[in-house]
Amino acid sequence: MRLNHDWSRNGYAYFSGGDVGRIIVFANRKGGCGKTTTAVNVAHALTAHGRVLLIDIDAQAHASIIFASGPQSTTTILEVLENKLSLTEVIKPSRIAGLDLVYATRNLGACEFAAGPDDEQALVLASQISPIQSLYDYIIIDPPPTLGILMISSLIAAQEVFIPMPMHFLAMEGLAEMMQVIYRLNASFNPALRLSGIIPTFYNQKTKIARKISAEIKANFGAGIMMPGIRNNITLAEAPAYKQTIFEYAPRSNGASDYRKLVEEGIVDTNNYSELKKEQL
Ligand SMILES: Nc1ncnc2c1ncn2[C@@H]1O[C@H](COP(=O)(O)OP(=O)(O)OP(=O)(O)O)[C@@H](O)[C@H]1O
Ligand SMILES: [Mg+2]
Repeated sequence: MRLNHDWSRNGYAYFSGGDVGRIIVFANRKGGCGKTTTAVNVAHALTAHGRVLLIDIDAQAHASIIFASGPQSTTTILEVLENKLSLTEVIKPSRIAGLDLVYATRNLGACEFAAGPDDEQALVLASQISPIQSLYDYIIIDPPPTLGILMISSLIAAQEVFIPMPMHFLAMEGLAEMMQVIYRLNASFNPALRLSGIIPTFYNQKTKIARKISAEIKANFGAGIMMPGIRNNITLAEAPAYKQTIFEYAPRSNGASDYRKLVEEGIVDTNNYSELKKEQL
């Protein structure tokens, strides 16, 4: 891969105090750990705090399905990654005020197979996000669990990674793998990429195992890294069937209150984040 772009500039623009949005990716190499549920519901909750863009970059297109109304959108992230359209040309307003969408379809799978993770195509998303960063307060990316071009593109484009993970031991392996990927990208294309938080999903703080894993993470990364947890809540699994976010489907559920708390106490206002910002200035 040729290093003919200074991709770190994209990340440092934020830390230099410029009035540009935070670029956040919810990533984990483990499948089914709540990434899309988190991306969709956090994106909706963040509209109370600013303008939000949600980018679906997963061929499963689960985030897109929740927002699609009528026939699937014809222009998607695929055309951007193929250099056929710019990101601005594929941004669509959603039914939620203050939330714009970039859709994916199953066709995106072709892109994953066509390119290796070391392909220069992995830099396209970062270069396309850069010019629109000042239009949003938050840009949220929902990648697939596989470590291919789509996840790598997301991690090169982002400044912050939040890792949603269930609190069990196998999930710790996924965390270690993600940290290796972040460090590798820090040393190459994205020095600004940081782990901003670990989000316990399917969370039951009464279990011994959840408390043990949580303590282990705090010992390794510092207490500030642990975000408020998202409890196992059936309404979170039901809402997508009605093509709704949790705030539309069941605004008084535990799921809604957990995601509201995550956004207000964890994402918008993290001590961890402000410390991180100081470090960079
Ligand atoms: N806190 C929760 N309580 C109950 N069900 C949940 C919760 N979070 C997510 N789910 C459900 O678990 C399943 C997996 O969640 P989700 O699709 O968000 O995971 P993912 O990490 O995006 O998966 P993938 O790796 O396939 O992209 C979905 O059916 C979702 O509705
Ligand atoms: Mg997903």
